[in-house]
Amino acid sequence: MNRSQPASGQPMDRVDGVAKVTGQARYAAEYPQDGLLYGSVVSSSIASGQVLNIDCAAALQVPGVALVLTHRNRPHLASYDDSYSDQDAAEGSPFRPLYNDRVLYSGQPLALVVAENLELARYAGSLIKIDYLQDSHHTDLLAELGNSHAAPAELPKPRGDFQGQFAAAPVRIEASYSTPSEHHNPMEPHASTVIYQPDGSLEIHDKTQGTQNCQDYLHKVFDLPKEKIRVLASFVGGAFGSGLRPQYQLPLAVMAALKLKRSVRVTLTRQQMFTFGYRPRTLQRLRLGADAEGRLLAVSHEATAQTSRFEDFTEHVVEWSGMLYQCDNIALDYRLTPLDVYTPLDMRAPGAALGLIGLECAMDELAVASGIDPVQLRRINFADSNGNEGKPYSSKELQACYDEGSAAFGWEQRNPEPRSMRQGHRLVGWGMAGGVWEAMQMKASAKARFDSQGKLTVSSATTDIGTGTYTVMTQIAADAAGVAVEDTRFLLGDSSLPTAPLQGGSFTVSSVGSAVRQACLVLRAKLVQAARERFPELANAEQETFVFEGGSLKVDAHCYPVAEVLEASDDGALEVQIDTEPGAQREGFATATHSAVFVEVLVDEALGSVRVNRVVSAVAAGRVINPKTARSQILGGVVWGMGMALQEETQTDHTLGRIMNHSLAEYHIPVNADVGDIQVLFVREEDEIVNELGSKGVGEIGIVGVAAAVANAVYHATGRRVREFPITLDKVLP
Ligand code: MOS
Repeated sequence: MNRSQPASGQPMDRVDGVAKVTGQARYAAEYPQDGLLYGSVVSSSIASGQVLNIDCAAALQVPGVALVLTHRNRPHLASYDDSYSDQDAAEGSPFRPLYNDRVLYSGQPLALVVAENLELARYAGSLIKIDYLQDSHHTDLLAELGNSHAAPAELPKPRGDFQGQFAAAPVRIEASYSTPSEHHNPMEPHASTVIYQPDGSLEIHDKTQGTQNCQDYLHKVFDLPKEKIRVLASFVGGAFGSGLRPQYQLPLAVMAALKLKRSVRVTLTRQQMFTFGYRPRTLQRLRLGADAEGRLLAVSHEATAQTSRFEDFTEHVVEWSGMLYQCDNIALDYRLTPLDVYTPLDMRAPGAALGLIGLECAMDELAVASGIDPVQLRRINFADSNGNEGKPYSSKELQACYDEGSAAFGWEQRNPEPRSMRQGHRLVGWGMAGGVWEAMQMKASAKARFDSQGKLTVSSATTDIGTGTYTVMTQIAADAAGVAVEDTRFLLGDSSLPTAPLQGGSFTVSSVGSAVRQACLVLRAKLVQAARERFPELANAEQETFVFEGGSLKVDAHCYPVAEVLEASDDGALEVQIDTEPGAQREGFATATHSAVFVEVLVDEALGSVRVNRVVSAVAAGRVINPKTARSQILGGVVWGMGMALQEETQTDHTLGRIMNHSLAEYHIPVNADVGDIQVLFVREEDEIVNELGSKGVGEIGIVGVAAAVANAVYHATGRRVREFPITLDKVLP
């Protein structure tokens, strides 16, 4: 670390890196507890119907089995019947495990077996016999399109005259795309360890993106006072949206703990990771009209997505088509089709990762139809304001993404003719796409404390789902407080800490980072004041020259013990807690991150195989706090985008209404051998409006547009336009 520079902006290693690679970091299912009991979930084998009987006798006879919970003997729950919803809930009535005898989807938890160890619980679960009255079910979006309804989402109003302008446009594209359901599958499966305290309060280690959301959920559903529920998530092994809502293992573990007055852990199996939220299957229809110079005259984006029968899951699928490019005639439509499945859930760049497949593939088709280079077509249609909101962007360095991305990739060498480029026996395809994601900010709070040892401890209830939050908050705090990063520690993942939003939406740096910065700035002013009072010779020294390091205050060449600086303060420490919210300066502006992704594929037509050989992702996300962890976010997003393009697909046997490939053996994602070279560029983007850090967040932008860029590269390589994702071998073979 270069001491002469602020910590922010430097590629600092993860502060939790050593704990993670040495196994010291504990995840939700790894907390030991004397007398802990283990729960195993028994899932429904039908997709729709009624439970007539659950025969638990054989399971209960297994020595070591403490309990079998079903809808018949679960404890009474305060708000199981009403509509209390968690922070990321969809419209409708949330799924309640073990609520009644109705089966709403295949894989639904119908019983929890609790035993002295997990193996016993699973074995006993296999002895449970469930009799059903089976109803007919519908799980195929294509077969149920006739039963769709308008999504309960506030779409931007239509602008101009799409129909008239599209009909008259010299160049027209009309194309439909389909995308499959996908499941999050973080490395760490969902788990909850509920530690039952002697006073009846619960200390819970949960796999979640929001400890306070889980605390509030348990408070409402179980009618427990909040003081009796503490939810912790010190480390989270990936989540990607799967932890935005409390998942069913949490209430099941709590039910068992309350009923038995014992500590209980419930872990889901990998197969059970396919029994709750996911990215929904969609059908998208794009119509683009342009003039002979490539200027967009008319844009229409219609999407239909599947949802469950009990909730209407909505996300922003089509909005991007009304804002990414300049166009005055826009028509957007978004519909939902209820099926006998679980409700979909936000998954990394929810909506955008889907909608940009449609928009950016259609833009590539338009480029081909109008004979304009795909990058040039996008430059021609650059929008410096968000047409949906009628507001200028606070910043939008997307043109720099085109410039720097295409230069790094060597795009000018591209022969636009499909099938024109080869490497040995393989066809080479070069494709690109743009990306966009929101730059949001939420209310957040943080506490900063500086003690007589010279240690700065900053805390907020946010989580770190692998994004690097521990590290970037340490950097932001150290800079704002004037304390060395080595003396700075950030605490998170605990519902008892100052209020923070869910970790999601790429808004943790903007929201929690702003609170951390504010708290540490105020703390620094107090420290400086205390130092000046104690050491009068510092009265005229500039505040910026005060540096706290290794237990000393250093001002220019002089050194003062921190203990003496803090002599007069209570407990020999200073503490500040601050609440922040989005600034009023944002109101007149639209705020978003952008990207341009360039992809090289190598296609072997004899095998139908597609290798993503090279990717350049150029990202405009404001100021980057930590180039190392930010790059990792983009790398992960790019790899996932490759999977969306070529591999990922949750397959359902519609006869059984059941997911078939519910394992990582059959649910395909890219492995190391599938991934070629990935170059990440952050273009310079100054933004004084978006938030006080000028930093927009990088958790999601990395995935957006990647799948379209791969598809466009496959077209360039082969001359075949695959519009049905993923682009598997069978669709590539001539
Ligand atoms: Mo993200 S889908 O907001 O975890």
